[in-house]
Amino acid sequence: MRTQVVIVGAGPAGLLLGQILHKHGVANVILERQTGDYVLGRVRAGVIEQVTQDLLDEVGVGGRMHRDGLVHEAVQICVDGARHRIPLKELTGKTVMVYGQTEITRDLMEGRAGIGAPTVYSAGDVTLHDIFGDKPRVSYQAEGKSHEIACDFIAGCDGFHGVCRASVPPDAITTHERVYPFGWLGILTDTPPVLDEVVYVRHPLGFALCSMRGPTRSRYYIQCDLADDVEAWPDQRFWDALKPRLDDEARARLVTGPSIEKSIAPLRSFVAEPIRFGRLFLAGDAAHIVPPTGAKGLNLAASDVRYLSRALIEHYAEKSEAGIDCYSERALARVWKAERFSWWLTMLLHKISDNTFDRKIQLAELDYLFRSKAASTAFAENYVGLPY
Ligand code: APR
Ligand code: PHB
Repeated sequence: MRTQVVIVGAGPAGLLLGQILHKHGVANVILERQTGDYVLGRVRAGVIEQVTQDLLDEVGVGGRMHRDGLVHEAVQICVDGARHRIPLKELTGKTVMVYGQTEITRDLMEGRAGIGAPTVYSAGDVTLHDIFGDKPRVSYQAEGKSHEIACDFIAGCDGFHGVCRASVPPDAITTHERVYPFGWLGILTDTPPVLDEVVYVRHPLGFALCSMRGPTRSRYYIQCDLADDVEAWPDQRFWDALKPRLDDEARARLVTGPSIEKSIAPLRSFVAEPIRFGRLFLAGDAAHIVPPTGAKGLNLAASDVRYLSRALIEHYAEKSEAGIDCYSERALARVWKAERFSWWLTMLLHKISDNTFDRKIQLAELDYLFRSKAASTAFAENYVGLPY
């Protein structure tokens, strides 16, 4: 079998890349280790930048997002019980869309089924061959048989634990990493959101976040220990930990209820450099990870895919290597700015230590953020997404 681009991974990065390439006549096959249902079972962040929305629209899968997603003109930050509003639209002219990543994945899957492009789910033992040669190949196991696809390029969209980055010779890649000493415990509930805007909470007891998936579905998070286990967090314990971190009005409004999903995510900042190796390109979580504070993960996956798809389309249409040669540098320039923002917001809002100096610095920076138009504009520009 032969195709132009083999895409490894059917998360948002792989599916979006496949959709854009197909639209521009570039043949591609997606190989995914899991089943489609498993991929749809993962609950992740849900704030979509305008530029990401535009990409989804460009490939015709933005319809449900515009119908069911919530357009937000501001975010709120609650500091030790006092809530402040940052008017994103007033400061930048832009808004964000609150719409779950799971839903985007579903929309992209349906889009792919609609165009009849090939996706192999439950593909085992995906292995890359000859990435530095002219004729790379990808082999895998499916339904008990061995298969091999010859291609021009391989797109590694297989997430942080994927095979693609791991296939690169160690001396060809540099990685930069920071692991945070805490995680997020998140729950999804069929209860109305506490407020109609996303609220980031800084409190001496630890960080919290109040978000939503619609008028009757909420997503809440609290900072937890890395050693914590979801089993140790029955719903009541979660609500009891969240409530004291909120301001009085939010606490009075909070509607609690049984969780329909509960999970713990560690926080990590990670960047691999470069993200092109011969005929292999990494995109999305395969190339970099941000902590979820600021919800940049999916948006960065989308921006990589935009640069990479343009480069590949240009290669086939104009026989030009220019975009391909610049992919790593261009994509990483935007990645590093989002890494900086996510790291900064994480350090600003979490309980980092018991050191009172650290706490005072956080409070001074937050006070400056709320009082200075320049500082809130800088926050807002990053939050709504920097231009490509
Ligand atoms: N072979 C085939 N598929 C694989 C392999 C492998 N060896 N390893 C991993 N995969 C698949 C995973 O099962 C997953 O479905 O690759 C996919 C990667 O998807 P994601 O982890 O969702 O990564 P990405 O598409 O880059 O999406 C980025 O997801 O993790 C969030 O915060 C992140 O929002 C961001 C978004
Ligand atoms: C979410 O809705 O899950 C969410 C929102 C904002 C974040 C992270 C997650 O920064």
